[in-house]
Amino acid sequence: MKKRILSGMRPTGRLHLGHYFGALQNWVRLQDEYDCYFEIADVQALTDNYDNPEKVQKNVREVMMDYLASGIDPKKSTIFIQSMIPEIAELTVFYSNLVTVARLYRNPTVKTEAKQKKVLFGNDGESITYGFLGYPVSQAADITAFCGEVIPVGDDQLPLIEQCREIVRKFNHIYGEILKEPEALLSENTRIKGLDGNKMSKSLNNAIYLSDTEEEILKKIMGAVTDPNKIKKDDPANPDVCMVYSYQKLVNPNIETVCAECKAGKRGCVACKKELVKCMIDYLKPIQEKRKYYEEHPEIVDDIMREGTAQARSEAQKMMSEVRKHMLINYFD
Ligand code: TRP
Ligand code: SF4
Repeated sequence: MKKRILSGMRPTGRLHLGHYFGALQNWVRLQDEYDCYFEIADVQALTDNYDNPEKVQKNVREVMMDYLASGIDPKKSTIFIQSMIPEIAELTVFYSNLVTVARLYRNPTVKTEAKQKKVLFGNDGESITYGFLGYPVSQAADITAFCGEVIPVGDDQLPLIEQCREIVRKFNHIYGEILKEPEALLSENTRIKGLDGNKMSKSLNNAIYLSDTEEEILKKIMGAVTDPNKIKKDDPANPDVCMVYSYQKLVNPNIETVCAECKAGKRGCVACKKELVKCMIDYLKPIQEKRKYYEEHPEIVDDIMREGTAQARSEAQKMMSEVRKHMLINYFD
């Protein structure tokens, strides 16, 4: 039997190349070898966007289309919406008894994300909500509701998988051995930075989105940061410090030439960027064509969401009835 994969993303914006090369491309490859469940984690998105439900609602559809355009195939994999599986919320409540608040405060992922989002906790003050602090518990419910065994994630998520494993062990110890300890599967690609060398972010406008137009791609790449020591067109440069080069590596089949010419001072940055624009547009073409098809057929997207979610729900219901039985809360069975 194929092993079960579970992973997901939060619908807080359209997906960019960081999501694609860091996760989606990997997920697409895993679809044949594993029984895959891919979540659109809208409940998790609400932990820090609870005051902006419209944003989350809109992006559920955008992320769904980005998944499909990238090659997640609903015939092979189950794609579902987290909020439509109440069993996940139910499990989260039961798991919350198995985790101390102190342990959540110490979770490195929670710490880092709180800092990024300027949420205060510990000695710095207390603006963190119960939901934000507890999101590792909810993520443990995501994973175990579907008996997820292999969890493809970036290294930033490893503390969440560890937290899930602890919950599983504690649950099994108290209520009986029914949950599986999941394992993280680290994506091979190192994190790609934004075109300006910073972490990709919407506010810095330094990321290329899967759904960007050719003009947007052109504008973003022409403004990218290159080797700062290269002043004149024929100065030799160091591609390893150039953001344009790091993107060329992802999409340009003639990468050796780019590297050699850059080092030898035989390539100007403007020409190099134009070449990258062309390669990027070519690379994204099949993805964008697929996305366009789904944009024009919203009813097909609806069907895929509904069917995937129904399939996922029946799986979660089976799991939940086992959990209830073992926790002795199956009164009416
Ligand atoms: N926390 C993950 C992220 O921010 C998204 C996510 C939600 C997830 N549920 C999951 C990842 C379950 C793996 C398994 O990227
Ligand atoms: Fe970067 Fe290309 Fe300029 Fe070299 S020639 S520094 S790789 S943009």
